[in-house]
Amino acid sequence: MPLALDSERLQSIRNHLGELRARRLSENAVRTVDVKRRFHLGEHVVHALRGVTLTIKRGEYISIMGASGTGKTTLFNLIGGLDKPSEGEVFIDEVNIAQLDPFELAWIRCRKIGYIFQDFRLIAVMTALENVTLPLIFAGVSQDDARDRAGAILTQVGLGDRLKHKPGRLSGGQQQRVAVARAFANSPAIILADEPTGNLDLQTGLEIIELLKKLNQDRRTTIISATHDKKMLDVADRIVWLSDGQIDRIEDRSAVQISLGRIASIHEEGK
Ligand SMILES: Nc1ncnc2c1ncn2[C@@H]1O[C@H](COP(=O)(O)OP(=O)(O)OP(=O)(O)O)[C@@H](O)[C@H]1O
Ligand SMILES: [Mg+2]
Repeated sequence: MPLALDSERLQSIRNHLGELRARRLSENAVRTVDVKRRFHLGEHVVHALRGVTLTIKRGEYISIMGASGTGKTTLFNLIGGLDKPSEGEVFIDEVNIAQLDPFELAWIRCRKIGYIFQDFRLIAVMTALENVTLPLIFAGVSQDDARDRAGAILTQVGLGDRLKHKPGRLSGGQQQRVAVARAFANSPAIILADEPTGNLDLQTGLEIIELLKKLNQDRRTTIISATHDKKMLDVADRIVWLSDGQIDRIEDRSAVQISLGRIASIHEEGK
């Protein structure tokens, strides 16, 4: 379907956004209700998610932990509106995203949700500044304002002196910082970070985690981060442990400290 917006369509989106803004302070940033996702591969059915019910509050920093293949990316794609559940419902700001038409969904994805991908997914032929400018232009910000805002956020993530570098001329950590800046460009309410430290060395990974935590605290952005990286435990308010497409357990901050202690003692034992 072409993404041409006539004035009637724009008005409908504006009305909808007005409604969403009115609900902006809803306490629940994300809610999933018995979400299932099956993939059919010929005769074979893969049960990637087997019924996930989860409520994430505004401003929370959540780590979704789980071994490879437990359904983390599948869950992210559903929360981010990139995929649809086989069963169950996903609410963003208490709006059931299944009820949105493609235009509204595209709008929500552009304005409300920022993505950080494991493999950065920056546009190779564009500079760092242009990469971060892009979502702002999509959101209707003027070229000049977009450049100013992109420059400011790149400076905030420590890349003020790399604005004109293309991704190929940046280190892995710097590229991930550009990806973080791009995800935050439109000041989304929710950041989905799928293994944001997966391709980084220990120190750079820690820097990215600290950066996410700072942005979470400064802007009260809800951060949902999928990982199997234990370093992520340290910053999370809650950890959702996935196992075979289901929530195995949810730990809050105090249990996180215990988990960290356990991991530290395992390290100690290993010495
Ligand atoms: N498009 C697809 N078609 C078929 N099966 C899929 C598809 N996407 C995911 N799966 C399967 O669903 C399960 C969950 O995959 P998912 O990518 O969500 O795992 P993950 O927890 O993100 O793993 P990783 O830590 O390796 O990124 C896996 O068994 C995977 O093979
Ligand atoms: Mg994954």
